[in-house]
Amino acid sequence: MVSWNTPAVNARANEILSKMTLAEKAAQMVQVPFAYVTREEALMWAKRGAGSFLHVLGNDAREIQAAAMGTRLGIPVLFGIDAIHGHGLNQQAVIFPSQLAAACSWNPEIAEEMGRVTAREVAADGLHWTFSPVLCLGRDTRWGRIDETFGEDPYLAGELGAAIVRGYQGDDISDGEHILACAKHYIGYGDAVGGRDSVDTEMTFRKLKETFLPPFARAVEAGVATIMTAYGSIDGTPFTASERAMRTILRDELGFAGFVVTDWDNVASLVNNQHVAADIDEASLLAARAGNDMMMTTTAFYESAIRLVESGKLDESVLDEAVRNILRVKIAMGLLERPQDRGTPACLGCAEHRESALAAARESVTLLKNDGALPLDPSIRSIAVIGANADDIRAQYGDWTYFTHPHPSPKTTPARPYVTLLEGVQMLAEPHGIAVTYARGCGPLPNEADDLDAAVAAAQDADFIVLAVGDVIEQSGEFRDRADLSLSNRQEELFFRLRALGKPVVTVLIATKPLCMTKVAEESAAFIAAFNGGMYGGQAVAEAIFGALNPSGKLPISFPRHSGQIPVYYNSMPGWHGGKYVDLPDTPLFVFGEGLSYTSFAYENVHVDAQTLQLSVRLTNTGARAGSETAQVYVRDLVSSVITPVKRLIAFQKVTLEAGESRELVFQLKRDDFSLLLPDELRVVEPGEFTLFVGGSSKDGDLLRQNINLS
Ligand code: NOJ
Repeated sequence: MVSWNTPAVNARANEILSKMTLAEKAAQMVQVPFAYVTREEALMWAKRGAGSFLHVLGNDAREIQAAAMGTRLGIPVLFGIDAIHGHGLNQQAVIFPSQLAAACSWNPEIAEEMGRVTAREVAADGLHWTFSPVLCLGRDTRWGRIDETFGEDPYLAGELGAAIVRGYQGDDISDGEHILACAKHYIGYGDAVGGRDSVDTEMTFRKLKETFLPPFARAVEAGVATIMTAYGSIDGTPFTASERAMRTILRDELGFAGFVVTDWDNVASLVNNQHVAADIDEASLLAARAGNDMMMTTTAFYESAIRLVESGKLDESVLDEAVRNILRVKIAMGLLERPQDRGTPACLGCAEHRESALAAARESVTLLKNDGALPLDPSIRSIAVIGANADDIRAQYGDWTYFTHPHPSPKTTPARPYVTLLEGVQMLAEPHGIAVTYARGCGPLPNEADDLDAAVAAAQDADFIVLAVGDVIEQSGEFRDRADLSLSNRQEELFFRLRALGKPVVTVLIATKPLCMTKVAEESAAFIAAFNGGMYGGQAVAEAIFGALNPSGKLPISFPRHSGQIPVYYNSMPGWHGGKYVDLPDTPLFVFGEGLSYTSFAYENVHVDAQTLQLSVRLTNTGARAGSETAQVYVRDLVSSVITPVKRLIAFQKVTLEAGESRELVFQLKRDDFSLLLPDELRVVEPGEFTLFVGGSSKDGDLLRQNINLS
């Protein structure tokens, strides 16, 4: 783990700081958006001593760095980029499953490897910093950025978040192969009202600490270098202006030692969007005082900060503190010794990295329904693959990959280093002499090429149908929330026309989020959630269909039955009247933690020792083939002085067992796992009875229970 605040690092930061002018300090706090300034302006900012640039690649970065190095103090610039599931703004990069798809693996090793490989590729491009991971919770699935989250649960998001941070930063970040991580968006952004991107949040400090803070706390424990401020507000104060969020909670309580960067133009938004400051000077004053160290894209902060200090409105020590935080990170990562050309350029898109993307894709495949149609019966002679998303690499990749692997790609080797679902099925069918037909049918957006009749004709003579449904990038991401999550365009109609042929239809969801597709999922012979599986998402799903891969994914997020049921998540607070609508069952279609395998697992003999807090359970693979299972432990506080969730994940373990193999799993729980926050935000463990649940999903029917009494 990297340490940002050793005495040696601090001393060196103070020495540089003592030589800096007021203007140099103000510039160090500015992050310049390369795409929004001219080349001359970019060089001018580098010469002023801007602390960072975002979204610069290759030679442009080298030129800017050379200009920065030529200044009086020669403090190198930090280059930041959105490398979100791979270095997706580079054409040659390896693309991993989205965070949401990767979270289906419930495997921190997968997240760590994603971080390690992405870091190598970003570093190879001469860059130092990714704005990842997203540690917002994905609860309101209408939100356009659900794919960027690790799902709905604070504990799972924290475990995977800490792991990806370890992967990005490594043990020795000065080795040139690792980069800075950024936990974002601090905090509550994902809880924007109505799932509408960047509108306000209805947050309280208690709710923030109980639900939304834990993943950030884990990232801080893992040594995350930077934290990005969210857009929303808390109790009327924008997070950008919240000293309590940024100084008291983040620094004093969590012990964060890196630096805070705002999100896109948050400072000017205090004037233009949130209307808590009359002008940019007032906004800059609020932002600096609250503890934002670097201002993303708000270059006007530079003049404001100088004016504020010169007029006596802002104490220069506030700037000193921010600049010290930034310098410490630059020093600790060895940037001063090695400002550029840190990585290994040949590693971009290399075979070893592609292997990691394939491994991640395989673990993300989540089988949610199977009436026995899968794995494919060897007697099947022909398969019809239908649906636009079965052969649309952009839909398979999802967000933040706009430039990767364009068609055709002269730069990449191999030229098409990815496998769509159609290609995956073709690859696996060919050796067995199974015929594959393909028809687009329709995609998620209305398109002149939609042709349902042609799809039905293509499937008519096939023994088996694989239908890909989902969404495309126009339906998700920033500014792109959806009020209606049902299958768009004519995808449902397409399903029922294929279903009417009387053959097994396996439906594969290639989408950024759980869509509302209750009837389709219920009437499919099998249903697989693939989400955005990255380069090899198509291959991994095809392997699962053919049985070469035994699926092991578990949902990190619940599937609503209907858009009107959103938000629906397993760890809700208890209520009465059943908490249901008159026209819907009270449960989601598929709930957090669910996921099937081609084998079966049995849990027995749960035992909990209230003294040692050790929980043990016997897990047996009762089926006929090897498989991986994620055992999940939940807790319920039976009587508490404040309401607590009906169930809360506190531990999990993913294990692989041979057919018939049985193993005793031991979970070492912590006393803190049983704690709650009192109304005055004091964390306590209240004595009394708790129920522990252990099993293969968060569904009551899948869980064994054992009560313990804590004094
Ligand atoms: C705004 C987004 O909210 C944030 O996640 C991203 O890192 C920045 N833009 C930089 O692109």
